[in-house]
Amino acid sequence: MEDIISPKSLVDPFGRTVDYIRVSVTDRCDFRCVYCMAEQMTFLPKAELLSLEELEQVCRNFIALGTRKIRLTGGEPLVRRNIMQLIRNLGDEVRAGNLDEVTITTNGSQLNKMADELMDCGVKRLNISIDTLDPGKFRKITRWGDLDKVLEGLTAAKKAGLAIKLNAVALKGVNESDLGDMVAWAGDQGFDMTVIEVMPMGDIGNENRVDQYLPLSQVRADLSERFTLTDSAHQSPGPARYVTVEETGRRLGFITPMTHNFCESCNRVRVTCTGQLYMCLGQDDNADLAKALRSGGEDGLREAIIEAIGRKPKGHDFIISRRAPAASVSRHMNVTGG
Ligand code: 5AD
Ligand code: SF4
Repeated sequence: MEDIISPKSLVDPFGRTVDYIRVSVTDRCDFRCVYCMAEQMTFLPKAELLSLEELEQVCRNFIALGTRKIRLTGGEPLVRRNIMQLIRNLGDEVRAGNLDEVTITTNGSQLNKMADELMDCGVKRLNISIDTLDPGKFRKITRWGDLDKVLEGLTAAKKAGLAIKLNAVALKGVNESDLGDMVAWAGDQGFDMTVIEVMPMGDIGNENRVDQYLPLSQVRADLSERFTLTDSAHQSPGPARYVTVEETGRRLGFITPMTHNFCESCNRVRVTCTGQLYMCLGQDDNADLAKALRSGGEDGLREAIIEAIGRKPKGHDFIISRRAPAASVSRHMNVTGG
């Protein structure tokens, strides 16, 4: 392909280099977290999903365009059949030096049986979503999840040598009072942790975002009563702001899409399980990579990627308020990937 249409890196109109893709490999999940899904979810027909081969083609073409990091998300990525083959092939790209990292965001339910193999495939780090260490509340939040099974998975992952970061979504009046214990426990276990503000993504049935929303300024103030939190210079290529918990020596991140705009340093785009490329988590504009690939082959795919990065928007404008309690982006997190 000509150099003109196949640059070595992707740079958007605001000068941000895009070298990180998050790929949702399935919209399905074995949990039904209250902030993520309605209990009765309709999932996409299998025929609409990119095949594993297509997912890999998309990843490989992003790599050719300078992508250095790939995160697989979902839904629950580890419930997709034969996903390990894709993970292994991407791990080979890491070994070959074509990619810095392949990471996974998971709810932990499959780790008991999959942790060792993930390590063997070249995965080094996992983000594991867990919002409370109270089994009853865990069941309430995830509706279908079993905390013991997830904790077994965490133990297996730790034993396999995977570095672990816990992701907890802050929910007003639900896990608010548990976050301190989680910080302490994560410290004991040697895990980092990130707290996330609930975002208005997709209709969630009877649940109400206004009731769920808890600003992290509040969480931080509460945690400060129990821990010494020191601002940390650490910046991951992501939206989290970090502190060090002096008592445990571990890092604690805060992701505040609602109260703090982190778009200036955005280096990422998202690919859905149906092959839609979203240039911004908070905007609806997208490019149909599935169509581009199926009609134009890999050349068509690359052209579509380059063209889409050329219209990556400056930022998002999420809003949760009494006047606008509905989702400001209609698609669910499990479709786009967190
Ligand atoms: N707001 C904030 N975080 C969410 N997640 C899923 N839905 C939402 C939402 N509406 C989180 C999950 C997981 C990550 C993938 O995204 O808990 O940690
Ligand atoms: Fe599944 Fe994650 Fe959504 Fe929970 S937040 S339902 S674990 S995709």
